[in-house]
Amino acid sequence: MARAQALSFSALLLCAALCIHTVTASNEAGIILIQGGTVVNHDQQFEGDVLLRGGLIAEVAPRITPPPGARLLNASGCYVLPGGIDPHTHLDMPFMGTVTADDFYTGQAAALAGGTTYHIDFALPLLHDLLQGYRVWKERAARGCMDYSFHMAVTKWTHDVATDMATLVAEGINSFKFFMAYKGSLQVNDEELIEGLNRCKELGALPMVHAENGDMVAWMQEKLLAAGVTGPEGHPLSRPPALEGEATGRAIRLAGVVGVPLYVVHVMSIDAMEEVARARQRGQRVIGEPVASGLALDEVPVWDANFTRAAAFVMSPPLRSAEHAPALRKALASGLLQLVATDHAVFNSSQKAAGRRDFRRIPNGVNGIQERMHVVWQEMVVSGLATPSEYVRMTSTAAAQIFNIYPRKGRLAAGSDADVIILDPRVKHTLGVGASHSPRMDTNVYEGKEIQGRVVTTISRGRLVWHEGVLDVAEGSGRYVPLPAFGPLFEGMAEQARRAMQLPYGPTPVVRDSEEAGSDEGGSKSCSAAGVL
Ligand code: URP
Ligand code: ZN
Ligand code: ZN
Repeated sequence: MARAQALSFSALLLCAALCIHTVTASNEAGIILIQGGTVVNHDQQFEGDVLLRGGLIAEVAPRITPPPGARLLNASGCYVLPGGIDPHTHLDMPFMGTVTADDFYTGQAAALAGGTTYHIDFALPLLHDLLQGYRVWKERAARGCMDYSFHMAVTKWTHDVATDMATLVAEGINSFKFFMAYKGSLQVNDEELIEGLNRCKELGALPMVHAENGDMVAWMQEKLLAAGVTGPEGHPLSRPPALEGEATGRAIRLAGVVGVPLYVVHVMSIDAMEEVARARQRGQRVIGEPVASGLALDEVPVWDANFTRAAAFVMSPPLRSAEHAPALRKALASGLLQLVATDHAVFNSSQKAAGRRDFRRIPNGVNGIQERMHVVWQEMVVSGLATPSEYVRMTSTAAAQIFNIYPRKGRLAAGSDADVIILDPRVKHTLGVGASHSPRMDTNVYEGKEIQGRVVTTISRGRLVWHEGVLDVAEGSGRYVPLPAFGPLFEGMAEQARRAMQLPYGPTPVVRDSEEAGSDEGGSKSCSAAGVL
């Protein structure tokens, strides 16, 4: 670690590239005993040992006698935590006329170096065809080097889409994303969204929304361009928080009427956060996902006179004015928001340059897959807003629970996957391009950000992949993790729907009296719907 810190900027760049290209698969999942650390789960913290064998956690206890042949790792003074779970990434994704720069290998390698051991990537349909999109995403992901699953986006509503959603659920996709923005490409209208919500309900799959009013964004973009605004600042100006709040509230209301849980991705504003909080207060099953960038950054760099720097910060929904990030951090600390993702969608400077004369053409997205665990540690734990256990909840356990893979992921316990990290709170380091293990990035939205505490070891399925500053990952060693439908968020939903249908006024057709009905047959005046379901 000290050696890596002493390396010059250019040497570090070279090292990152070399680490990616000279990987070995030498280090098989053997027996590892992590000794004397502070073991942290979302509901407990104690001094103890963690024994890993054959890719699984074999034992977690205050003191474990080293088995013969075990590799011993001394974790004294460190936290031993479940590996990070990033529930929102875009690797190798065609988008806005280009493709995100990190593929499954470079992105996952960077993730492991930053303490994330599992992610859920957004697969896109191919020309609205879900099964073709899934096939292509599986091919792309075969290059990877860590565990992954998929969400699937729905970009149009047809009979085939409804059928294919069921096929994908059988393949282990238990969540579908609907874009309420990106008019003319990914955006669905309300009718399509409602059909999708209902189909998700039938399949026990979690609907997710990118919540911005895309029609209004397009309208704002035209107005700004007509007024001569062409630079990156046109991006936040055309997507004010009100448009995020409106779409978030609309999606929540629609999901509430359909009777399905809802997951709101990248909550970037107070406006959207308050919609999520109000819905939860009403008793609705809504999950709000802030992303690392939204918790730590603001929109100021987007106004930078240097186009390359400004464009690097363009993402949707946009980074907001200074008051939003602290409010999101507090909402996360208090449980109004539930978990932290990255929305990692990286484009290098030449890709971003496509929008030099028209902000609408700047590919949207920022980095974070390597930085998230450190950014959240700094902003939430070092700041005193969250405890280490709460950190585990928001970076790992909550995602595992929501996407129905807990406690296989998201917990240090016997039988769980051996995805474990060791974080040394004494080590200071600085984020940026020079520290990145993605060789494709030439900007970093966290450039120069200082962090107190560092992931010094990452173990992925029992393999030591990041240790003492060396990344040892093998291309093609990743594994697809199917996710079962009807996760915990669906518990009790049928009962909620049944009760809603038993309200005094519906949905049994009201039988009018004979005079009103134009018949003298009469009929029941009861409007009780008891038993309709
Ligand atoms: O700017 C972003 N967020 N790019 C990735 C696509 C999306 O909207 O999630
Ligand atoms: Zn989005
Ligand atoms: Zn995204």
